[in-house]
Formats: sequence, structure tokens, C-alpha cells
Amino acid sequence: MDWRGFVALLEGERLPAAIVDLDALDRNVDRVKDAIEGSGKTCRVASKSVRHVGLLRRILERGGEAFRGLMCFTLEEACFLYDRGFDDLLVAYPSVQPAALRELARRVAEGATIRPMVDALPHLEACARAAREAGTTLEVIVELDVAWQPTDALHLGALRSPLRGAAALRDLALRANAMDGLEVVGLMGYEAHVAGLPDDNPFSRALNPMRRALKRLAVPRVARARAEATEALRSAGVDVRVVNGGGTGSLRTTTEEACVTEVTAGSGFLCSHLFDYFRDARFEPAAFFALEVSRAPEDGVITCLGGGYVASGEPGWDRLPVPWMPPGLGYVSMEGAGEVQTPLRLPRTGPRPRVGEPVIFRHAKAGELAERFDTYLLVRDGEVALREPTYRGEGRCFL
Ligand SMILES: Cc1ncc(COP(=O)(O)O)c(C=O)c1O
Repeated sequence: MDWRGFVALLEGERLPAAIVDLDALDRNVDRVKDAIEGSGKTCRVASKSVRHVGLLRRILERGGEAFRGLMCFTLEEACFLYDRGFDDLLVAYPSVQPAALRELARRVAEGATIRPMVDALPHLEACARAAREAGTTLEVIVELDVAWQPTDALHLGALRSPLRGAAALRDLALRANAMDGLEVVGLMGYEAHVAGLPDDNPFSRALNPMRRALKRLAVPRVARARAEATEALRSAGVDVRVVNGGGTGSLRTTTEEACVTEVTAGSGFLCSHLFDYFRDARFEPAAFFALEVSRAPEDGVITCLGGGYVASGEPGWDRLPVPWMPPGLGYVSMEGAGEVQTPLRLPRTGPRPRVGEPVIFRHAKAGELAERFDTYLLVRDGEVALREPTYRGEGRCFL
């Protein structure tokens, strides 16, 4: 849709507004299906990259048999989603909050499949305690660090699990299985340095060749680490049912690994702008937000009300939303995307939004947009077909 299309779509709507193009979302789901087709893996949907119950439901429905379960970001979120009708939930980030673990264990005792992540003794103890109190067994997943560590001082990848190598993973799994109330049923190794690293990034072009080289070197190492860990668990008698890996940015390479049972994808569905910058993953923008032009402080500049929806992660210009429509708008470098206002330079040619008209942006990260809006306008065939709440619109915030 071009800018005039957005203007027509938003006629009479309150600004700011967030918009999801359901047709583009469907096509992105199909792209993920195509990427994993024939691999024998299923796709687990990363809920953090959506944060909207209605959209999560649509993604799983369209994914059909090829999609299975959600990867949740907190224990409370997993309980919330279970209560909303989802099941097969993997909580990918460990936490030892007693009340949340109690709630989770209570649901597991009722028949839910919700599996917490563990990588250290305190996680095991907290999970085992909650399981025993609920009179059940918690199935847990152990997380393997799959970062590349060429020297002791250099850790290339996200700092997540301390479990480096198959032996460390196996030892923790055996400790878990020796505890009353716990059973290890699989492992996860998330290669953030492959799946989450844009390697065609226009904001830092000079680094792209280095990023590609890192990925080339890292991919076989990640594969070896996951295979060795899977083998170590199996030969120690662990019933390994889940081997999770990957993300939107690594679907092609992660699905090639024989030991992997499922790949995770989230950001590709809404395709926030950071996912434009992967050479190996192509998705189409499906989520947008519109700000009101509220002023024109000088010739060639318009100012939008609000807009400082800066994304998490390593700080940089790529963490700001991109002005998307009309094309050619650029930030004023001393202001960027501001708390109360976002001035934009107009291009020499093309449409010039007037006061009251919308400018369309894309967030850098897919799920974080939902923390800014209560409602998404859901568009089909170029028209607003539905309005549905985000987690925030349901009064829920999990981090
Ligand atoms: C454990 C884990 N798996 C997979 C992903 C990939 O998610 P996405 O497809 O949204 O990049 C993430 C993202 O941070 C993650 O933390």
C-alpha cells in the first residue's frame, strides 16, 4: 500500500494508530512454511515477537500441521496464553519466581504442557519445589550455549546459558532427572549471532562482510554443538523429545540439522524493519504505525507528535523506527525519534504530508510495537476489517 492508500485507510481513525496487514501476515506465514517444508521440523512461534493473542491464533491456524506450540518469554505469559486456549508452551527464559512457578505447575497438574527453561541449579530447585507442591512433574528444557568462543576472552553470541558443551549440559540434565518432580525432555540452543544478526544492514554497511564471515564460521559450529549435546543427553538416558534452535534469521540453516526437531520463528511474521536486513531471510512488512503530523516548523520539515518507540538491544540508529511512507523522509540527526515529537525532513519530490495527515513508520522489533498500542487495526484487502487488543490492550505486560 502506498502513502495515499494509508491516508484513505486511516480516514476517521484516531492517531497514533497501529496497523497489521493480515494479507501480508498470511504470506509471511507461508514463507516460513516453505522454508521448513520437507525438513521434518515444526515451527514454534515466538510469542514475544507478536504479543497479540488474535495474531498468535491466526499464525498458528494458518501454519497448520507445520506449526506447533509457542515459545513464551515469561512464566506468567505462558499461564496467560494457556488460559486463553494455547498449549505446548516452551518458556525460553529461565526465572525462579515462586508464585509464577506455582501457577505454572498448577496448570501442568491439570494437564497443560508448559515447559520452563533451565541452565543452573537454582532453576532446578525452584522448578522441583513448585512441581512437588502441585503434586506433579515439571518437564524442563536445558539450554546449551551455542555462541562461538574462539578464545576464553571472546564470546561471540548472546550471553545466555552458562552450559558450554555437551558434558556440562548432560551433567545438569542428570542432576535434574535425579530430583523429585523434574524431568528433562529436551534442549534448546539459540544461535543469536546467526538468527538475530542482520548481515545486510544499511545503518552499518562496513560491518556487513564481517557479520557474514562470522555467520559462515558459526553455522557449522552451532550444528556440531547441538548434535553433540543431543547425543550426550541420549546416551545418558535422557528422553530427548525436543531439540529447539534458530529464529527467523536462520531458518534455512537450522532446518538442515538432523538433530533439530523444531525451529523457532517470530519476527518474520510481522517483519519489523530489522528483518529487512538479512540476506538469507526475505519477508514483507506487515506491521506499521501512523503518527499525526502536528507541525511544520520550517520549510522542508514536518513534525510528528510522539514517535520515540526505540527498540531494545545494542544501541544505534537501526533501533529507531523507520519512516516508511511517504518515501524519502529522514530523521533530523540531533533529535531522532523523540519522546514527544519527531521532526522529519521531506524529500524534494513526492507527497508532502500536511498537518493532521499521517506518516507511516515501521518499528525495529516486531513485538515491542505491541507495548505502545492497545489495539491493532487489522487490515484485509486494503480495509480495516477488525480491531483487536494487544497484550497491553488486555491490560497485560509481562516484562
Ligand atoms: C530463544 C529464542 N529463540 C528464537 C528467537 C528468535 O525469534 P525471532 O524469530 O523473533 O527473531 C529468539 C529471539 O530473541 C529467542 O530468544
